[in-house]
Amino acid sequence: MGNLAIFVLIILLQSLMCNVYCSCLNQSLSENILEDSFSFPSDFLFGTASSAYQYEGAFLTEGKGLNNWDIFTHEYPGKIRDENNGDMAVDQYHRFMEDIQLMTSLGVNSYRFSISWSRVLPRGRFGSINYSGITYYNRLIDALISRGIKPFVTLNHLDYPQELEYRFQSWLSPEMQKDFLYLTNICFKHFGDRVKLWTTLNEPNNQIILSHLKGTFPPSRCSLPYGNCSQGNSETEPFIAAHNAILAHAKAVQLYRTKYKEEQKGIIGIVVQTSWFEPISDSTADKAAAERAQAFYSNWILDPVIYGKYPKEMVNILGSALPRFSKKEVEYLKESQSDFVGINHYTSYFIQDCLLSSCNIGFGASKVEGYALKLDRKGNLTIGELTDVNWQHIHPEGFRKMLNYLKDRYHNIPMFITENGFGDLQKPETTVKELLNDAKRIQYMSGYLDALQSAMRDGANVKGYFAWSLLDNFEWLYGYKLRFGLYHVDPVTLKRTPKRSASWYRNYIGENIRRRYD
Ligand code: BGC
Repeated sequence: MGNLAIFVLIILLQSLMCNVYCSCLNQSLSENILEDSFSFPSDFLFGTASSAYQYEGAFLTEGKGLNNWDIFTHEYPGKIRDENNGDMAVDQYHRFMEDIQLMTSLGVNSYRFSISWSRVLPRGRFGSINYSGITYYNRLIDALISRGIKPFVTLNHLDYPQELEYRFQSWLSPEMQKDFLYLTNICFKHFGDRVKLWTTLNEPNNQIILSHLKGTFPPSRCSLPYGNCSQGNSETEPFIAAHNAILAHAKAVQLYRTKYKEEQKGIIGIVVQTSWFEPISDSTADKAAAERAQAFYSNWILDPVIYGKYPKEMVNILGSALPRFSKKEVEYLKESQSDFVGINHYTSYFIQDCLLSSCNIGFGASKVEGYALKLDRKGNLTIGELTDVNWQHIHPEGFRKMLNYLKDRYHNIPMFITENGFGDLQKPETTVKELLNDAKRIQYMSGYLDALQSAMRDGANVKGYFAWSLLDNFEWLYGYKLRFGLYHVDPVTLKRTPKRSASWYRNYIGENIRRRYD
């Protein structure tokens, strides 16, 4: 081959390689530009979340009545890991100005908190309004708004006046729908001129599994082999309680739409707990089991709320144990459409079929949970990084998949991430220094916020993100030993001290707000 031919060949080869290389380079450049250019919409909410029983304390102050958690923690202190309770919690009732100052320093533009039912209505609709309770929430709402922080109010987060348990077994009775409606009317009336973001119930799916299926939360109702309770029926009661909760939600939405919305111009939705369920294999049976796991968890609530019917998987498996909506109720559910759904999300599981295949007894494997065994590993492979808390597995990709799943199933309904966060389990040897240096929380939140951005790029219609939680607080059965706060709370003095994650979240919000204007 002559020199000229070799020269031409080299040029040709170079240009071919450049084509391949340059197009890869261009592609990765444009992907990077896309990644970098992501910005949250200008009205996106960044907040922190809380709930009344876990935060307020002041359990007998200024007319508050006793609620289910007051009674439960006092009657059975041994059921709480540190035998503690929410009598004092983190005393937000008296320290809310200080806490708002912390929020201001984080740069959040919204705060999710819940109304303590028994603070506003100590005896439900069977007694009078406690106006000190109304004053407390008015002061909290005004103080938030004056600092540019939008109140995002949950009307009920697990606590209710104990009187409603004694009178008619709370959520097991349709009477509870009337009581909830009574509460919500008072809240819309007194707070709705300033509160524009409402949710009715916090994750009835998870709450009811704990209260009426496993019986570990009050009112401790369940039956063998699901749990060890003195009363209850795990095969029927969870579905009755959820049925009442769904209708109570719909009634509150209807009330808001017909009586308040036009003037107050707010929006209203419901909050569910979600987990991502990854089929453990590619088999049709495991894939169907993962779908059943969703049906028996978040779709249990969201399908009726959005489409007026239970998921078909539940209807098929539960038969007559699943209550039916009358024709009128179906219409009613469809009419009382939520403006958005609130998504609490913490974890993912592998799912193995137990309907067609033989299965070990375990979490999720039973009929009432859809014959879908929830596992944290397949062989040596875990679903994500496992943590000290047996239900929290770090798997941000599952969050992205979950949001896409919800987007597709519910026609891209607007969503708020009403809770996401990481819990540090405090062991006897854990030092405060270690708790303050919370690198794992930062890793968790940054992974999940990346996944959120990816899901939004995929098209999920997400309007806000609330970190659980502003402060360490009363974490139900774990007491104060499982700490979710961006701020550490000293158990004796209740002094709030920022953890590393607080400054990380402040920077994250700051950068993402700045990016909108770049
Ligand atoms: C609940 C919170 C709880 C958090 C962490 C959520 O399911 O709504 O009340 O503290 O999980 O366990």
